[in-house]
This record gives sequence, structure tokens and C-alpha cells, in this order.
Amino acid sequence: MYRTHTCGELRLSDVNKDVTLSGWVQRTRKMGGMTFVDLRDRYGITQLVFNEGDDAALCEQANKLGREYVVQAKGRVCERSSKNSHIPTGDIEIAVTGLTVLNTSLTPPFTIEDNTDGGDDIRMKFRYLDLRRAAVRKNLELRHRMTMEVRRYLDSQGFLEIETPMLVGSTPEGARDFVVPSRMNPGQFYALPQSPQTLKQLLMVSGMDRYFQIVKCFRDEDLRADRQPEFTQIDCEMSFVEQEDIIQMFEGMAKHLFKELRGVELAEPFQRMPWSEAMKYYGSDKPDLRFGMKFVELMNVLKGYGFSVFDNAAYIGGICAEGAAHYTRKQIDQLTDFVKKPQIGAKGLVYARVEADGNVKSSVDKFYPQEALQRMKEAFGAHPGDLILILSGDDAMKTRKQLCELRLEMGNQLGLRDKNKFACLWVVDFPMFEWSEEEGRLMAMHHPFTHPKSEDIPMLDTHPEDVRADAYDMVVNGVEVGGGSIRIHDPELQAKMFEILGFTPERAQEQFGFLMNAFKYGAPPHGGLAYGLDRWVSLFAGLDSIRDCIAFPKNNSGRDVMLDAPAPLEQAQLDELNLVVALKDEKKG
Ligand code: AMO
Repeated sequence: MYRTHTCGELRLSDVNKDVTLSGWVQRTRKMGGMTFVDLRDRYGITQLVFNEGDDAALCEQANKLGREYVVQAKGRVCERSSKNSHIPTGDIEIAVTGLTVLNTSLTPPFTIEDNTDGGDDIRMKFRYLDLRRAAVRKNLELRHRMTMEVRRYLDSQGFLEIETPMLVGSTPEGARDFVVPSRMNPGQFYALPQSPQTLKQLLMVSGMDRYFQIVKCFRDEDLRADRQPEFTQIDCEMSFVEQEDIIQMFEGMAKHLFKELRGVELAEPFQRMPWSEAMKYYGSDKPDLRFGMKFVELMNVLKGYGFSVFDNAAYIGGICAEGAAHYTRKQIDQLTDFVKKPQIGAKGLVYARVEADGNVKSSVDKFYPQEALQRMKEAFGAHPGDLILILSGDDAMKTRKQLCELRLEMGNQLGLRDKNKFACLWVVDFPMFEWSEEEGRLMAMHHPFTHPKSEDIPMLDTHPEDVRADAYDMVVNGVEVGGGSIRIHDPELQAKMFEILGFTPERAQEQFGFLMNAFKYGAPPHGGLAYGLDRWVSLFAGLDSIRDCIAFPKNNSGRDVMLDAPAPLEQAQLDELNLVVALKDEKKG
């Protein structure tokens, strides 16, 4: 038997028991005639103690142990004289009577402790060692508990877990596909699913009624802290439902997860906000509502005073940072640099402080009389000690997005984005379409299977850009943790949608014929949602990037540096696949 207990298990109540432990040597310390070894496994760390006076040869053996050796130790549980209150096993130690080295280890390239000396790259290259660190392992444990709770909740609500294939045709979700060549069908490719969207809709046609799947999805898009090329969805679909049924079901699931995983009871219904309001007041379809600083539009207040930047603007708006009037000139200059960064793109920043006597002092005082500045103060409901920050621009949507970045930055600087506070929100009434400059056509904002709001259907022919969708996103702390919609189940409406999206009837038939045909055989009204598992786990774990809750993530260039993938194929494999690789000139190494 390799072990009687784990390294995280023994307590004072076990004193005098004879035990066997197995694990990794975290570190060895020699103090006089005593040697102490911290033995680690997934469950914790237990101190082993060797006394030269009792058994010199055994102690010598312990002194030779290297970091990360795998050992088995037999001995008796003793009470420690100097206890360690930082670890659960800190009251005891094992007086070792027998030691077996099960395997040796090279010196690891970084220290495998909470405060490691390893940089990002080296830890990713040796991810299997990084995963030995408690901080990373805990994220995977949380992920496991989350999937268990998801299954428990959905099973209790009558959902069936059904797998759908990974080798499919294109499933449009707005990103590029990852493709897989088919050996048996020369020159043809599968696409990996961007999501199981069309398949779960077919399962509704099959009468499965309530489906879910914890499923890998693949999207070839630019990476960010909350995006990976392969990620996991909790994908769900329900039949005979309206938007309200879905919101209730998945708000229930979110509350269940908050309670079970974070011990947080969310009694109130989640706030709901139409998309248009989110854009108007927060410049984002995923506002972080842990703090205020709602935008105030100032077109009527600040135009017409001869300040040409504002006089010529299509949008002027600002935020009021409560109690931030103490910001120094230098801090404001830094904020100006922040909004002028190319990724944000504002031209400049105007500020105004509300002074103790209520007067407003601004960076554009020479254009504005105090009465105008007072009217601005009133528009914000600002008080003495507050700092007002204003942006303007010739494109309202772009300026709002810039103001959104500024708002988030101020939230960070003022400590208003507390990771232990949760603000949950449904964003509803999304537009059905958005204009794509790149493609020169309307694109589906959610996906082409989304049902337009019934009352907006007559506008499909006249003002498609004004049509709203039965689509909803769940946003927690400014992160889109899930989204879904009610689907079209009428083949004619679906065909019309493809037409508006610029598909010829032939192409729509070629790409989505299977779905439109299926709808001709009695498709029930249906709808669903997918949660982003990685985003939920990183939210619960307080992580800045979803990478930390994925066992083997990709880096920012989409590479697995440990497996060194992607990589070229051997000629024989290319031949078998009937492929010839001809890189465009600029891509040639
Ligand atoms: P959507 O595209 O909104 O909807 O995706 C659902 C949720 O998946 C998560 N997500 C991601 N997580 C990590 N990395 C990514 N690259 C990534 N992309 C998306 C987000 C998002 O809210 N088929 C529809 C769902 C439906 O309509 O039922 C869909 O995929 O948390």
C-alpha cells in the first residue's frame, strides 16, 4: 500500500497512529541533528521529521532528497513542539521510521510554491509542474465543483446531457472556423464547432425538450484575457419556452452556483437593462454595475460657448467620480494619456473639479461662465469634492466606448471594482442586426437563428437595422458570462433572415438546408443560452485571465508552448490527406 493517508489529512486526533504517506518533496531543512521535509500532494503538506540521534542512516537518506523527489514515508504521528497555524496539518508531524524514494526529479525550472519565481512563459512550458502549485490547482478544483453543481442543477430540472459531434460543418457564431482536413474526402474539410448551436436546435426538433452539454467550442479569433481559441460552454436549449422562462431557469442556475461555490445568497431578481440603455449610459453591452458613474450627456449644456471642440462634436458626455477632486494635475495628465492611447483613441480629456464652496473649476474655464459650469454640475448631481471627466467626439458610439474605458479605469483607480462584490445583470432587447463595415452588409448580432421581437417583424422589410431580437446576455461585473436567444422555428422566417443577411437562396440551402428542412417536420418553439464556463470559474476564483482556470491553455498567439502546437505536418501525413502546403509569400518562415 503506497499510503494510508493523504498529506492534507492528519490532525492532533491522529497522534500516535502509525501511518504511511506518499508525495513530492517540497523542501528539506536541516537544523542541527534534525532534518525536516515538507511532503506535498494534492491535498496538502505534512512535515516529516528525521532525527540523527535515532537513526543516522535514515537521516542521511533524507538529507539527500532533492526538490520534487517522489517518496514514501512510514512513521508515527507526533504533536509538533512549534506549530504552524498557516496549514491545516500544522499541529502534527511524522517521526519517520522508513523512507523509500519512488522516483527522483531533475531540479524544477521554477520553485513550486505559491510565490513562485517562475515567469509566465516558463510556467506554461512546464504547465504540469505549475499545476502542482496549490494556487493553480485550486482553480481546477473549483472548476470541477462548478461542473458538478451545473449537472446537479440541470438534472434536477429535467435536462438531458447529450453529446454532439466535434467534426461538423461551419456553425456561424461570428468568428473564423478551425478546420480539419478529411482523408476520406480529398479536398474537403470539417469545421470544429464554434458552438453546438444548430445541433441543439435539431435536438429540439427531435423532441428532447431540455438539453445541455458541457462542451468544447472552437473559435479562431483574436485572443484577450477572457478569450481562448478553445473554451468550454455550458450549452443549453429548451422547447416550448419564451424569453422569460429561459431567464428564470438560468438566473436560478446562476443563483445556485453563487450559493454553492461562493456562499453568496442573491435573493433579489437580477437587474435587467435594454441594450440601448446599456450603450447610452455605460457605452458597453456589458456594463460593470459594481459602481455608478453613469454617463451624463452634455450636448445641451456645453454647446454654443465658442469652445470649438465641443461646438463641433456629435457627442459630449462625462462621468462624475465622487470624491476624486483631490486628483493632482499629474494624475489627470496620466488619465489624458490613458484615453489618448491608440487602443482607446480619444483626442483629449476635459476635467472639472467641484470645490469645497460649490464652485466649479475646469480645464476650459476660459470658455464657460460659472453659471454654465453650475448647470453642468447639476446635470451630474455633483457635490463638493467630486471630479467630472468629459469626452467628446464626432462619432457618438465611438466616444461612448472611449468614455466606457475611462469609467472602468476610474473604477479601478478608486477601488470600486471589488472582486468579492457581484453585480449581476441581464442585458435584453439587443438589436437583431449590426452593420459590418468589413463585409459591407448587415450581420446578425447574436446569430442568424435568433428570433426577432414579434412586434418588430413588420420592420424587417423596411428598417431592418431597427429590429430588436429576443436575445439576452448575462453580465456579471462587466463580464459577459452567457448569452442566448429565442430561435426562429418557422422555415419561412428563417429563409427571410438569411436573405436579409445577404445569402442567396441557393447558398442558404447549401449551408443551412439541413436546419430549414428539419423545421418543416414540426419544430417546436424553442430557445436557449450558453454560459461560458471558463469565465464563470475565473469570476468565482477572482482571476484576471481565464487561462488560469484551464489546465492546458494556449498563449496569446494561440500556441500551446508545452506541446509546441501548432506545427507543420510530416510530408507523409500531408500526402495521406491529399494536401499541398503553399504558403503566401509573407507567411513563409
Ligand atoms: P455566445 O457566442 O454568446 O453564444 O457564447 C456564449 C458564451 O460563451 C463564452 N465565450 C467565450 N469564452 C471564452 N473564450 C471565448 N473565445 C468565448 N467566446 C464565447 C461567453 C459567452 O457569453 N450558441 C450561442 C448561445 C445560444 O444562443 O444559446 C453562443 O455560442 O461567456
